Amino acid sequence: MRRTSRTLVAAMATAGLLALAACGGDDGGSGGGGGGGDAEVEVFTWWAEGSEKEGLDALVGVFSEQNPDFEFVNGAVAGGAGSDAKNVLASRLQTNDPPATFQAHAGAELSDYIDQGQIEGLSAMYDEKGWSELFPEGLLERLEQDGEIYSVPSNIHRANVVWANPAVLEEAGLDPEATYDSLDDWITALEKVDAAGMIPLSVATDWTQVHLLETVLLADLGAEAYNGLWDGSTDWAGSEVTDALENYATLMEFTNSDRQSLDWPDATQLVIDGDAAFNVMGDWAEAAFATQDKELGTDYLAFPVPGTDGVFDFLADSFTMPVNGPNAEGTEAWLDTVASAEGQEAFNKAKGSIPANLEAETSDFGEYQQQAIESWENDEIVSSLAHGAAASVSWLTDATAAVAKFGSDSDVAGLQEGLAAAAEKALAA
Ligand code: GAL
Repeated sequence: MRRTSRTLVAAMATAGLLALAACGGDDGGSGGGGGGGDAEVEVFTWWAEGSEKEGLDALVGVFSEQNPDFEFVNGAVAGGAGSDAKNVLASRLQTNDPPATFQAHAGAELSDYIDQGQIEGLSAMYDEKGWSELFPEGLLERLEQDGEIYSVPSNIHRANVVWANPAVLEEAGLDPEATYDSLDDWITALEKVDAAGMIPLSVATDWTQVHLLETVLLADLGAEAYNGLWDGSTDWAGSEVTDALENYATLMEFTNSDRQSLDWPDATQLVIDGDAAFNVMGDWAEAAFATQDKELGTDYLAFPVPGTDGVFDFLADSFTMPVNGPNAEGTEAWLDTVASAEGQEAFNKAKGSIPANLEAETSDFGEYQQQAIESWENDEIVSSLAHGAAASVSWLTDATAAVAKFGSDSDVAGLQEGLAAAAEKALAA
């Protein structure tokens, strides 16, 4: 049925009849646009599989309970960090075929949709429902542009986390209790794992390499200079960045050779299975360990990327109300559930993240998540590149191209030129 109505919308758009259809009214919602059925609420995410889907399922469970008259329709497109979903979404938005709601990161990524007039302002809804009191101020600022709030946050994730397998460390002659103050210290440990014939550091396809790179920049530059990368006050072509990229190049030498054919769950799984010692990944990885009944401290370790202790590399998912969406009432119902303490408790507990809703009960969250809550409250917060908080989609796309090229030619100078050019272009835009 969804597919039929999408085809219909496309045909109507081609015939220039869309305005007519909106005047005629179809679903009583303020969204206008296409059909989709009054009850159907298509939710577009990239939480298509594994532990991420379990998180989504938990949220959907609360949605169905709270909104028995609406039917959740899963519009997920697989691919970690939205690596494929964002392209599919862009073309759907361009052809006037928006889902009822879509996942977008708080911060610069959201600005892309705002600037293109693709999402509705939600400040009136926030006022009506008292949502401004529910979420941390710093997060609300990242959902806002020119005084208007544009989405509802579902969670807060931390990107700068190392996941480690203590059994592998021991096998390599390393003390699992050891802490690493700097990347240099950590590289010494990676050398030992390498000498023992195991994968020191697992990584996957391009976006996970960007993720690794941002944490290296954060470790080597420190929070202030890292922040300066996004507003032009830190020089991407400078020697500090060169040093960080040299470290990144060293880390990449310790990664698995099949990385291009893997996505994040596979790279994290190498650590879970004892095939790799370390993996740098956001704390959605926590959900992968938890769903496989692994115990923090016994089966796996989690600690800030060396050199980033005291800093929380932040990102948040949020949900939008697309302009001309198919079912505005259904979208509002979804946003209600996303905002609710109950929705956030169920979702975040399963997702590895922490609730954005300050009223959500977290006492039964796992040990890792308790640590993340504490760190979020006390640490310095910086914005993630790979997950839309720090830079626009086009900037991230250009940076990712430079990182991907480095993955095949290992040319540090070329990587720095590519990253500097991406920044120059984005900051001039
Ligand atoms: C991030 C997203 C997370 C998680 C991750 C891996 O961009 O914010 O919720 O899904 O990608 O896919």
